[in-house]
Amino acid sequence: VRIYVPCDASALSVGADETADAIALEASRRGIAIELVRNGTRGMLWLEPLVEVQTPHGRIAYGPVLSEDVGSLFDADFLQGGAHALSLGVTEEIAYFRNQQRLCFARVGLNAPTDIEAYRANGGYEGLRKALALEPAEIVAAVSESGLRGRGGAAFPTGIKWKTVLDAQADRPDDQKYIVCNADEGDSGTFSDRMLMEGDPFTLVEGMTIAGIAVGATQGYIYLRCEYPHARRALDAAILKAYEHGFLGDNVGGSGKHFDLEVRLGAGAYICGEETALLESLEGKRGQVRFKPPLPALKGLFGKPTVINNVITFASVPVIFERGADWYKNFGMGRSRGSLPIQLTGNIKHGGLVELAFGATLRELLYDYGGGTLSGRPIRAVQVGGPLGAYLPESTFDTPLDYEAFAAIKGMLGHGGIVVFDDSVDMAAQARYAMEFCAAESCGKCTPCRIGSTRGSEVIDRLVAGLDAPKQEQLLRDLCETMTYGSLCALGGLTPYPVLSALDHFPEDFQPKVAPVR
Ligand code: NAI
Ligand code: SF4
Repeated sequence: VRIYVPCDASALSVGADETADAIALEASRRGIAIELVRNGTRGMLWLEPLVEVQTPHGRIAYGPVLSEDVGSLFDADFLQGGAHALSLGVTEEIAYFRNQQRLCFARVGLNAPTDIEAYRANGGYEGLRKALALEPAEIVAAVSESGLRGRGGAAFPTGIKWKTVLDAQADRPDDQKYIVCNADEGDSGTFSDRMLMEGDPFTLVEGMTIAGIAVGATQGYIYLRCEYPHARRALDAAILKAYEHGFLGDNVGGSGKHFDLEVRLGAGAYICGEETALLESLEGKRGQVRFKPPLPALKGLFGKPTVINNVITFASVPVIFERGADWYKNFGMGRSRGSLPIQLTGNIKHGGLVELAFGATLRELLYDYGGGTLSGRPIRAVQVGGPLGAYLPESTFDTPLDYEAFAAIKGMLGHGGIVVFDDSVDMAAQARYAMEFCAAESCGKCTPCRIGSTRGSEVIDRLVAGLDAPKQEQLLRDLCETMTYGSLCALGGLTPYPVLSALDHFPEDFQPKVAPVR
C-alpha cells in the first residue's frame, strides 16, 4: 500500500516527520508492508499533516494526522480508505482543491519532489522537448504570445524581457549571458515560491533551462534565501538528477545545447529580493540597489545581459510549451493571462495555496476558499501584495484579481499574498509598522527611504497622540509623496501604499487614543 506524508516545511512544522515515523512503526508492528512516499504539500495547510492513501478509488486523504492518531487510523483500516473522524474523502474532490486551476502547481504534492521518473510521467520535460524543436526567437515569441507577465510582483511582460536579452549583443553572439532566478521570497504572507521549490523543483529547473535555450544563456543561478533550507535540499537534488539524466549540461535533452545551473544562497536581507541588489549580492558584494538604466536585461550579472525572473514566472513556462501558448492565454482576464498562485494567510480559517485563473474576486478567495477568519470575527482588512501592498476594506472585496483592476483601487497584486485581519486590528499600528519595516530593511542608498521611513514612524506617533493632528496628517501625506516619487526602488517607493491605504480607508484608527497632550 502506498501512503503519502508531505515533507514540505509547512507540514514538517506541524509534525509530519513524527507522523511518518509513527505510520512506519505501526505498519511494521502489525506486519503490513507499506511504501511511504514523502510528497510535497497539496496546499491545504490547515489540514497538515495531510496523509493520503492510494486506493482503487483514488487517493483518500486524512488530516490533520498527528502521531497519536496513527493507531486509530490503522484500527479503522485506513489503508483501504476506511472511515475515520479525520477522513476527508478523495483528495482531489475536496472543494478547496477541486475548484482550483492548477497550471503551475499541477504536479506539486503528487509525488516525491525529486523523483524525476514521476516528474516525466506527469508531463515533465515535455515543455523543454517541444521548445528544443523551435528556434530561439520562436521560443521567445511563444512566451510573448502566452501573455505571461512577471509573477514576482511587477507584472512586466516576460516575452519582452526575454526578447531584450535575446537581442542584446547580437554583434557578439558568443558573449556570456545569464539566467537568474529570484528565489529571495521576502514578502510577508507569501510562500508560493517555497512551496513550488520544495514540492516540484524540476518545474523551476525546466523553466530556467527553456529560458537559457531561448536567449542563448549557458549559465543559470537560483538566488535562494538562506531561510529556505528544505528548498535548497530539494533544488540541489533535482539539479543533480537533471544532470544525470541529460537535461542540464553540455547536451541538454540531446540537442547539443548547453545550460548549467546552480543554487546560491542569500544571507537574509529583504532588499536582496530587489533585482539589482540581488545581482550585487550574487556578485559577492553588499546587496545595494543599482541605478536603472542600464536594465539587467542589457547589463545584469557581471555586466552581461541577464534574464532575471521570479520562481513562479519560470515555473509557469514549461506548461506554456507543453500545452501551447494559445491554451495558456485562454485563462485569465484583460491583460492578466494565465493563473496566479494565491497565498491565503493571517487570520484565516483555511490558510493555504489557491491557484486560480486571474479574474476570481477577493471575496471568493476570502470566504469560499478561506472560510472567513480563524477567530470567527468579521474580516476588517486584507493586505494584498506583501508588506508594501495596500490594506483593503470590505468595500473592495468584489475586485477581481487582475493587475489593472488592483491598480485602479490603488492596490497591487504583487506576488499574490493575501494577509487577513479581523476587527480587532489597529490600522494605525499597521501603518506605523510599514514605516518601521522600511526603516529596518532600507539599503540606505537614497534619502526619502532611509530617513523618510524613520520620520514617518514619528509622524504617525504624533498623529495618534493627537498632537496637531491636521498638520501631522498633511506632513504624513507629503512625506509619502516624497517617498513615492523620490525613492530609487520599490521598497521606499511602495511603502506609502500600506500607509496611505490605512489612512484613507480606516481614518478612525488614527484618532487620538488618549486625551490630546497640551
Ligand atoms: P519594475 O517595474 O521596475 O521592473 C519589472 C521588471 O521588468 C524588472 O525585471 C525590470 O528589469 C524589467 N524591465 C522593465 N523595463 C524593461 C524593458 N524595457 N525591457 C526589459 N526588461 C524591462 O519593477 P521592480 O522594481 O523590479 O519590482 C517591483 C515589484 O516587486 C513591486 O511591484 C512588488 O510587487 C514586487 N515585490 C516583490 C517581492 C517578493 O517577495 N516577491 C518583494 C518586494 C516587492
Ligand atoms: Fe535603498 Fe530604500 Fe533607496 Fe531602495 S528606496 S534604493 S531600499 S534606500
